[in-house]
Amino acid sequence: MIYPIVAYGDPVLRKKAQEITADYPNLSSFLDDMFETMYAASGIGLAAPQIGKSIRIFIVDATPFEDDEDLSEADRALLGQFKKVFINAEIVQERGDEWVFNEGCLSIPDIREDVFRKDEITIKYLDADFNAHEEVFSGIAARIIQHEYDHIEGILFTDHLSALKKRMIKGKLTQISKGLVRADYKMKYPLAKKKR
Ligand code: NI
Repeated sequence: MIYPIVAYGDPVLRKKAQEITADYPNLSSFLDDMFETMYAASGIGLAAPQIGKSIRIFIVDATPFEDDEDLSEADRALLGQFKKVFINAEIVQERGDEWVFNEGCLSIPDIREDVFRKDEITIKYLDADFNAHEEVFSGIAARIIQHEYDHIEGILFTDHLSALKKRMIKGKLTQISKGLVRADYKMKYPLAKKKR
């Protein structure tokens, strides 16, 4: 089932999401739905709050980067395998130099901005079978995780921008909330006028 993606301005995107337990109902079909929803929107990451569920789950699939000519061969090989489910994740450390990457978000269509983040992370999480992992990621893989992890903390990439940049995009963000900026996938807009 494809869920509509919640647009900027919905309070669910601002909540700190709750952990789930292994008896969460229909978890595996929910995860299937998350992947289906993400692929329908051509995304490489999706967090549960973006489909209206304030729970600590996010998924990534960076395998499309396998063919990205702009990346090094090492990155392509790594990202070609990078498809994962992160449940109850906790970033335990971020380190290294900050570097800039032009980020976008399925909840904030038509805005892309440069965001600085640290290069390397250590993250603890449960996989889809509730097996515990602690792993280190760097570069683009870390970047995708940091962006999705922010979602389960109620943070959006626009929060990382300078005060000036925030002022510059404020009007556009309001338009997104009102449904005046359309995406080519199904969305739910918090301030859209009800159709009569
Ligand atoms: Ni996002």
